Amino acid sequence: MTASTAQQVVYDPYSAAFKDDPWPVYRRLRDEAPVYHSQKWGFWALSRFEDVRAAARDHETYLSFEGIDIDDTAKDMSAPGFLPDIDNPRHDQLRRIVQRTFVPRTIAKLEDDVRRVVTGLVDRFADTGTADIAQDLAWPIPYAVFFDVLGLPTTGSDREDLVRWSHGLKDREDDDPRLTPVAWDALHDTKDYLAHVLTERRAHPREDLLSTLVTAEVDDHDGVPYAPARIDRDSEIVGLAFVLFLAGVESTSALLSTAFRELARHPEQAAGLVADPAGIPAAVEEALRFDAPLQVAGRTTTRDVELHGVTIPAGERVFLVYGSANRDERQFDDPDRFDVTRPPQRHMSFSEGLHGCLGAPLARLEARVALEVALPRLGRFEISGPLTRYRSTPNMRVLDSLPVSFTPSGRTS
Ligand code: HEM
Repeated sequence: MTASTAQQVVYDPYSAAFKDDPWPVYRRLRDEAPVYHSQKWGFWALSRFEDVRAAARDHETYLSFEGIDIDDTAKDMSAPGFLPDIDNPRHDQLRRIVQRTFVPRTIAKLEDDVRRVVTGLVDRFADTGTADIAQDLAWPIPYAVFFDVLGLPTTGSDREDLVRWSHGLKDREDDDPRLTPVAWDALHDTKDYLAHVLTERRAHPREDLLSTLVTAEVDDHDGVPYAPARIDRDSEIVGLAFVLFLAGVESTSALLSTAFRELARHPEQAAGLVADPAGIPAAVEEALRFDAPLQVAGRTTTRDVELHGVTIPAGERVFLVYGSANRDERQFDDPDRFDVTRPPQRHMSFSEGLHGCLGAPLARLEARVALEVALPRLGRFEISGPLTRYRSTPNMRVLDSLPVSFTPSGRTS
């Protein structure tokens, strides 16, 4: 590879055109510029599976303190307690507080609740023959499940505010890394609300994650208490609650939409899963691989890194492009083909190592149950209108709308 070929491919993760179809750019990155440097934005990007995986696991060389987000979220929203943006030793001390809630054994106990939520949602459209899978299923499932786990109100005006703020937090314009005024307002409102509800839980703990957070015993950090007597929007405990609030919904919604979108496009695979639901966990993994909800995460180098004949200096921002790693033909046969019968293979959608996704067991459970419940009721379904992209941070790839039509069971045509 020469410097001139490296410059031919342009990777601009903030541009709308790129977001609409990132795959050809990723392929060129992997082939022509596996250590890519963006002159325009000043970042580096790793795009091959082995390089991305090695970097994700190397917590000495690639630090997270400057944020995993690749836009201004990293500097404007990140704060003490914001787990993905914290390095060790503090990271592990905070992660330990919440780890037990998310281990597969604990999460498995939620299965009946998740099934109830999904069944209730599917009941609403199953007889109509049309649905917007994004709005009717993929977004409401994680809200219902995750608000419950956290202990946030599941009905009423507080819940409506929280849902509105959760969307507001992600409000961005294409081609612009800055937070919009809507995002700034949502940030302050959400943190103030969390500070208030955590204070309330300290006085009256319940069986929920917010209570776990506020009753945890954690050493001070640089002399600052984790949960001070007067919890406010800048407290470490609020940062931790805030990142949980941010992390649990949009990513899961993205996974659900991808799964249903690809199965609508591959009806023979959907029929195979209805006939043999034992294949559904593998279908969930394939949806994760095929279209990584979190396409990219940032790190900062602590030393010069030499890779594929290129040197990334110390102190530089490096983007780990999970979305590309999952489509690397060096790792996966025919990677652009969606195939639920693909043998199990590691993918990078939940990353690995220190910052590997805490919520993976929960996301997997929600997706499996959603497919188990919805696929038999949808029967053969097809995409019936334009798919629209959810306006969000440039790390994410999520659908806002996924209209489908199908023949309700009980009717013959
Ligand atoms: C399909 C759904 C999801 C996907 C694809 C996903 C993806 C990821 C990825 C790639 C990371 C690593 C980021 C990095 O490179 O630093 C991560 C971290 C994290 N995820 Fe998820 N996530 C999902 C769902 C959830 C859920 C349901 C939760 C609920 C708690 C959650 C909580 C977190 C947290 C707290 C971290 C930070 C972990 C740490 O830094 O120690 N995620 N997630």
